[in-house]
Amino acid sequence: MDKIALIASGGDAPGMNAAIRAVTRTAISRGVEVWGAWDGYDGIVDHRLERITSLIVAGIIGRGGSIIGAGRSPRFLVPAVREEAVARLRGAGIGGIVVIGGEGSLAGATELHNLGFPAVTVPGTIDNDMPGTEITIGADTAINTAVEAIDRLKDTAAAHRRSMLVEVMGRHSGYIAVMAGIAAGAEMILTPERDVEIDDVFREMSETITRHKRHFIIVVAEGARWRAAELAGLINDSANAYEARYTILGYIQRGGIPTPFDRILATRMGVAATDAILDGSSGTLATWRNNRIEVLPSNGLEPRKDPWEQSLERVHLLTTI
Ligand code: F6P
Repeated sequence: MDKIALIASGGDAPGMNAAIRAVTRTAISRGVEVWGAWDGYDGIVDHRLERITSLIVAGIIGRGGSIIGAGRSPRFLVPAVREEAVARLRGAGIGGIVVIGGEGSLAGATELHNLGFPAVTVPGTIDNDMPGTEITIGADTAINTAVEAIDRLKDTAAAHRRSMLVEVMGRHSGYIAVMAGIAAGAEMILTPERDVEIDDVFREMSETITRHKRHFIIVVAEGARWRAAELAGLINDSANAYEARYTILGYIQRGGIPTPFDRILATRMGVAATDAILDGSSGTLATWRNNRIEVLPSNGLEPRKDPWEQSLERVHLLTTI
């Protein structure tokens, strides 16, 4: 293989640039050219490719976003479009692709593999919801961003004796909500994985009022039963409750300087994925399990566990006594 393609696909995640740098320099060290396609799979379909040199990736390890863009590509779901894209890649002498992205991106890479085009995925998503890997690139930075925001919101909540609802990202995943909620000592954490009744919210709140606590922080994942605005409305309509305010952190969690953890994870995974594809691997995912990077076949990987399974009731107790 003389040339490989590289894309960042799906929602961007802090640390993607560190992975781009690692893939590029690992391939170059083995005498292989790297061609970045712009904006995820769309760049493959439209053949918007550019050669990435060692100099182009200089200085990007600490930058958020993605220097080759990122994006979702509904067109890539059409089989004929994928076949055409692969034919063009082969025509340009490109022998395989490294995909940096989340679950949808992994599915696209699997389709390429099924067409006989070598594809290896590096897990990049702030949601940490990919199969087989304990952590994905970007989640640590997103949690740090969310915790800093919640700490600030807690100050003002306590000053005014309020309930502060903080909506974090995660349409299908409560990972950021759970981890940021624990780190910031939130009174409640609402996730898509675990259903909570409104009565539970009011019961927790009235017990907290009884203990004269001056703040009541609820971290709400965007995919939970209520959006933060809706829940704040329900709370403000109730007599025996804190006054509620809400803040939506939104895309602030996706941008920004990646933490050292994300830079190191991205670097190690990028190196492993590139070595793997150049050694003949395909249909595989770079994973982090038991303190080791392993590139494993993506079709047999166990789904990411619901983070609520890990005895969080005991952790929750710490904010309720
Ligand atoms: O997959 C990462 C993520 O940030 C989710 O947490 C969020 O629900 C989604 O992307 C938002 O995607 P978009 O950029 O398409 O609005």
